[in-house]
Amino acid sequence: MARAAFFLVCFFFVFFGFFADAAVVEQTFEVGNLTVRRLCKSKIITAVNGEYPGPTINAREGDTVVIYVINHSPYNITIHWHGIFQRLTPWADGPNFITQCPIQPGHSYTYKFNIIGQEGTLWWHAHVSVLRTTVYGALIIQPRAGPLGYPFPIPYKEAVILLGEWWDADVVNLENLALASGGAFNNSDALTINGRPGDLYPCSKKHTYKLVVEQGKSYLLRIINAALNSQFFFKIAGHTLTVVAADASYTTPFPTDTIAIAPGQTIDALLHADSHPSNYYISALTYASSPAIPFDNTTTLAILSYTNSPTTTTPPLMPSLPSFNDTPTAHHFYSNLTALLLPQTQSLPLSISDRMFITFGLSLTPCSSDQPQCQGFALSANMNNVSFRFPTNISLLEAHFNGVEGVYTRDFPDRPPLVFDYTNPNVNAVGTSLQLSEKGTKVKRLRFNSTVEIVLQNTAVLASDSHPIHLHGFNFYVLAQGFGNYNHTEAVEKFNLWNPQVRNTIAVPVGGWAVIRFWADNPGIWFMHCHLDVHLPLGLGMAFEVENGPTPSSTLPPPPPDLPRC
Ligand code: C2O
Repeated sequence: MARAAFFLVCFFFVFFGFFADAAVVEQTFEVGNLTVRRLCKSKIITAVNGEYPGPTINAREGDTVVIYVINHSPYNITIHWHGIFQRLTPWADGPNFITQCPIQPGHSYTYKFNIIGQEGTLWWHAHVSVLRTTVYGALIIQPRAGPLGYPFPIPYKEAVILLGEWWDADVVNLENLALASGGAFNNSDALTINGRPGDLYPCSKKHTYKLVVEQGKSYLLRIINAALNSQFFFKIAGHTLTVVAADASYTTPFPTDTIAIAPGQTIDALLHADSHPSNYYISALTYASSPAIPFDNTTTLAILSYTNSPTTTTPPLMPSLPSFNDTPTAHHFYSNLTALLLPQTQSLPLSISDRMFITFGLSLTPCSSDQPQCQGFALSANMNNVSFRFPTNISLLEAHFNGVEGVYTRDFPDRPPLVFDYTNPNVNAVGTSLQLSEKGTKVKRLRFNSTVEIVLQNTAVLASDSHPIHLHGFNFYVLAQGFGNYNHTEAVEKFNLWNPQVRNTIAVPVGGWAVIRFWADNPGIWFMHCHLDVHLPLGLGMAFEVENGPTPSSTLPPPPPDLPRC
């Protein structure tokens, strides 16, 4: 009897995964040249293991991930594991010159980290130059117990949907040209779903992704915006989707026919194949929030195909698409997600130790000597009027760990230098002084376990735009968002202190603001920046320097012996 009970208990533990051993997920990433054909032309791209998009990493919560990166490409490489906390492993975070020097051609580096307290869809991408155009892939974290641990009905199957962009020209050349002239980056020539532009582009019928479904079954779509510069509207004809997670944090189930997703963000959504058996288009097009900024106005399509659909020659059903500047639809989606409250959910900090007000947007900076084709002023971008300058021969994290002086300063300001009518388009007529920003490598120092609240305020300087702001090393809570200038008294009334959505990247409303909070419980150097890749070299970023805590388990370990040298 006792024995039977013992077995029963064992069965339950095994069944629910309490004994499920944490595994080591090991993979080799060989980065190198790959020739692919798109839009009627062949082109050499940089890719991992000869795959475009790159390989998917499948892990479970609690696992250790070990990725051995070998760089056969002609470029400097780093890989970032977007959204992974990297608790006590900031050396594996990946942003170039923030946490490591790049892996030079012919060299290698092993990224090793644990996945703790995170489930859902994340992704990995190159974090150097514009190489993430083609160097990216999905990073999927199942619950420890597998799909049984989902807080929603177990889907019949799952599919990864990576949204991206394609350029006919060599992107590294394009970037160098833009930087040398102090101007803007060219638009992409196509948008892609799983690396394929789809039916609407020349020579692309065979480059159309197809998702085959059985009627009556449900599917979990893991949607990732891996694009460099495009926010997207995502839509499937004849179907509504139910969002169940965003940025690997579960959400209250949210039914919608349109998903808005910014570069860096992920959305997990359930698709019920309950329509008439037929073929339907899956579509993504740019959400372009600023009328002043040119964008890729094409549409990428994939096909949702029912197994038992009658073979007909009629084309798949097309969804009705929102217009490119449909900010109300984007805002409705972005601002209505809420967190699913689960017992293990980390709680929102209610008392705040560090408050910041950060204005951000475009600006102008005097041309520098390495910009030969630049005349007078170069396009730049800034946070609190500081245009971030990357170090060039040591990473911030190594400087922090070894106490190397002169690499960065600790004076990133808590407020902008000047209070003005931030979102008034007429700010541009006032003269150039508002438009000028200074270059600097400034960090904000935080004590271990401080609680931080940041008001992110977009400005109209040069142009308002919805910028996706991404924080490394942490998730944050989104308390409120709105348009215009932030007004504390009015905003506080709207704060969601009960079930605010949890994110690692927030698309701050165009000409508007958002309030975020996070616990600085992870020592190291953590980058916060705009995930529109074009704004990164322009300086739309800053870094947090989080001090060690009082115990060994809150103290940074030394770097791994193979950390790349500059
Ligand atoms: Cu997805 Cu700093 O990046």
